[in-house]
Amino acid sequence: MPIRASETVVGVIGAGAMGSGIAQVAATAGHNVILRDVSDRAVQSGVDAIKKSLAGQVAKKKMTEARAEEILERVSKDAGVESNALRECAIVIEAIIEEIEAKRRLFRELEDTVSATCILATNTSSLSVSVIASGCARPQRVVGIHFFNPPAVLPLVEIVPGKQTSPDVANQARLLIDSWGKTTVIASDTPGFIVNRIARPFYGEAIRINEEGIADPATIDWAMKEIGGFKMGPFELMDFIGNDVNLAATTAVYEGTNRDPRYTPSATQQRLVSEGRLGKKTGAGHYDYSEGAAQPQPVKDPEIGQRIVDRILAMLVNEAADAVRQGCGSPADVDLAMTKGVNYPKGLLSWGNEIGLTHIADRINTLRAEHGDDDRYRVSPLLSEMASRGEQFHQ
Ligand SMILES: NC(=O)c1ccc[n+]([C@@H]2O[C@H](COP(=O)([O-])OP(=O)(O)OC[C@H]3O[C@@H](n4cnc5c(N)ncnc54)[C@H](O)[C@@H]3O)[C@@H](O)[C@H]2O)c1
Repeated sequence: MPIRASETVVGVIGAGAMGSGIAQVAATAGHNVILRDVSDRAVQSGVDAIKKSLAGQVAKKKMTEARAEEILERVSKDAGVESNALRECAIVIEAIIEEIEAKRRLFRELEDTVSATCILATNTSSLSVSVIASGCARPQRVVGIHFFNPPAVLPLVEIVPGKQTSPDVANQARLLIDSWGKTTVIASDTPGFIVNRIARPFYGEAIRINEEGIADPATIDWAMKEIGGFKMGPFELMDFIGNDVNLAATTAVYEGTNRDPRYTPSATQQRLVSEGRLGKKTGAGHYDYSEGAAQPQPVKDPEIGQRIVDRILAMLVNEAADAVRQGCGSPADVDLAMTKGVNYPKGLLSWGNEIGLTHIADRINTLRAEHGDDDRYRVSPLLSEMASRGEQFHQ
């Protein structure tokens, strides 16, 4: 049975950046929401974040004050771990710290509190949904619902069924999140799901190009924006996300793939993190954000720029093809995920079709020969087969 907003209560555990955003989205869609954290203070700070975000929408005239108040009233604060409030929830979405034991413990506790039909969802970015569910008596009701930051703004949500998730639970979760006006894709329970895995070369290859002395961050960012059409360049995006967060995402995919050398975390990013140069939030990262700091100017050479874009794009298309080969998502979902989740100007598989799959394969084989690196620059077998048969990706 589909979940209806007016009749259902949504529980959100963890009132941090993600939990407060998810609570806001659910309340905006018409649900009563129970927002829980470890202390009154933490819950209050989540509610304050929702207030601030709604006030921003009121200021931009996207919403009336009355509507903002009505949304806020739907969010109940709940700091009592003993409380029975969660019993009325049709779904509880967990957004606590990214630690496997904390999550497994919470899910076991939730099973004793919620109703028999309640869906238990995790917003984890890098842990396995199947492993989180494995401690539960009824793992078939556990599913991944992966929002992007900030949840109130970014439209994409990855629905991640674990090994034991029942198809009905995955389907209900998808219908619910669709009803919140989000764009959902189905992602397999593999490291990085769809977006965080396929996006790795956007950062990793850009850093490599810089480490090889081909171009500085400002030039690479300029090329990716002006020639590639991306909204942000890789270095400014890493500084915006936080180099610590970005490194954690890379490390999770690297460890989760049994240290596939293609995802090896870069020395540059590790050094920035050890130096506390985390990006905008610390005032320095790849760039210096302190007041009056000189902004490095790009070398606007179209030939170098095109080479940079071709190289990063070839690696991205190859990664997208390999994700399809490994069943991480359908070709249509892979393309949708990258445009809606990280704002890429085009779906990577369609882009690959446009450039020509043979050209992409040739580019990677050339990089392999130039670098003598068979692990990093290896053409996905799917891309290689399709290129040799003259085929294209179909959505
Ligand atoms: N920040 C992102 O960009 C992002 C994006 C997608 C998914 N995620 C995932 O969302 C989850 C939360 O991330 P975040 O950035 O909101 O973290 P955060 O640190 O901002 O918030 C986590 C909150 O959980 C609370 N908490 C910790 N243990 C708890 C428990 N046992 N019970 C109740 N509350 C508890 C903390 O007090 C804190 O308020 C993580 O799993 C993360 O991987 C994060």
